[in-house]
Amino acid sequence: MPVVDLAPAPAAPVLPALRIGPLEIASPVVLAPMAGITNRAFRRLCRESSASTASGRSALYVNEMVTSRALVERHPETLRLIEHDPGESPRSVQLYSVDPVTTAAAVRMLVTEDRTDHIDLNFGCPVPKVTRKGGGGALPWKRDLFRSIVGAAVREASPYGVPVTVKMRMGIDTDHLTCADAGRSAEELGAAAVALHGRTVAQAYSGTADWDAIAALKEAVRTIPVLGNGDIWSAEDALEMVRRTGCNGVVVGRGCLGRPWLFADLAAAFAGSPERVSPSLGQVAATLRRHAVYLVEFYEDELRGCRDIRKHIAWYLKGFPAGSTVRNQLALVDSLAALDELLAQLDWSAPWPGEPAEGSRGRAGSPRRVVLPEGWLDTRDLTPARAARGGGRSRTGRQRGLSHAAYGRGEAGPLCMGRGRGLSVASGRVASCRPTEQWASGEQAGRPSGPRCSSAVRRSSGSGWRPTTTARRSCGWGSPRGTCPRGG
Ligand SMILES: Cc1cc2nc3c(=O)[nH]c(=O)nc-3n(C[C@H](O)[C@H](O)[C@H](O)COP(=O)(O)O)c2cc1C
Repeated sequence: MPVVDLAPAPAAPVLPALRIGPLEIASPVVLAPMAGITNRAFRRLCRESSASTASGRSALYVNEMVTSRALVERHPETLRLIEHDPGESPRSVQLYSVDPVTTAAAVRMLVTEDRTDHIDLNFGCPVPKVTRKGGGGALPWKRDLFRSIVGAAVREASPYGVPVTVKMRMGIDTDHLTCADAGRSAEELGAAAVALHGRTVAQAYSGTADWDAIAALKEAVRTIPVLGNGDIWSAEDALEMVRRTGCNGVVVGRGCLGRPWLFADLAAAFAGSPERVSPSLGQVAATLRRHAVYLVEFYEDELRGCRDIRKHIAWYLKGFPAGSTVRNQLALVDSLAALDELLAQLDWSAPWPGEPAEGSRGRAGSPRRVVLPEGWLDTRDLTPARAARGGGRSRTGRQRGLSHAAYGRGEAGPLCMGRGRGLSVASGRVASCRPTEQWASGEQAGRPSGPRCSSAVRRSSGSGWRPTTTARRSCGWGSPRGTCPRGG
């Protein structure tokens, strides 16, 4: 009698493992770098979550970005930000830079000191204080500067077998698209993968991500993986993005805010399994608490860890029955004991609410004026003189450093310094920012770091600087107004 094997055949993976240079990422999924979020604590939760699935396939978890300048100056906070858990592999760091020389120095430091296994370069930031300097999403417009930065990073990293990837947006706005050019340049220069957020800088987080742009990039970039990013809120969205664009993997940001178990869903989905996590409120509360404990460990400070968890509360509780009183108290929690007391007040037996807990979360906002250095759009390349200086130009000789904190946590970063004009690209109008330091390269600044939120106005007025409205009120990435840990 023939033996009939009734065990279900293992499901076929939807995509092969993602190859990023020498690294093999079993699940073709990347945790998007998010300043103020993707620290060691959050990455650990995400890792634990994908390890809990039947396939156990792990993703690539990218650190929140640090500026090259702060890194080479060895700011203690920046050095802490690039730490990884002992078991974290591969270790990944995202760098922000506007200057090839500092980029090279930062990459050299990372690889010679064996501090990372992967380096991602940030060319997508839409924050005005960054684009005003020609950084982030504005930078790929200057083809030669983009090439110099990517080339410098690859040159320094490749002897150590550390792959460099590029993360970018579609362009400055729909009239100034850069992603095809930049993607091909990155490929030619030896980048190991390119990731595209399907929005322009002008869109910020508004509207919907254009997945067709990801498909087009996949057509343009043939020899390295193309990763799709934007509006993945569920494992099904991730599968759909792959189906529609042909991308080699997905980068997931806001969808996992308050929902680190999305990485379990993603690992399962890409392994071909229908398994999904639908936690009860009790399980969510336990995850939230674990997150808080990891943050306390990360900061080595209970109050700081508890302050940080506050911004995650609404995301964790989205859609669950939890009264406004307890929600409000949780948003002010200042110790693990207080957290325990408040979490005990929730109905732990409440089941996963389904749709109300799903869908979009995190920042959305509206289109914005893109503030650029004066004349930025006039040419696609820097002049030879500017290029020789790595892209930085200071008309007044005073240049301003962009600290990690300035960019990532909302402390005032590069400031408008006196009179000048910035171009608003979204509308073609001249923006209200009045920089005279339009070309100031933060990476070449002589000062050690940007001012902190609370001191920005004080310090800038003291030295005759003129902070913009944005510098005074914006908290950059991540920290909603008023929740910046340092008061931004
Ligand atoms: C709070 C927050 C912080 C972010 N910080 C960074 C960052 O440090 N570096 C970066 O390249 N992108 C950053 N991003 C952009 C994300 O990596 C991602 O590209 C974007 O959120 C779109 O993906 P999503 O729709 O999956 O959220 C940030 C986004 C958010 C919401």
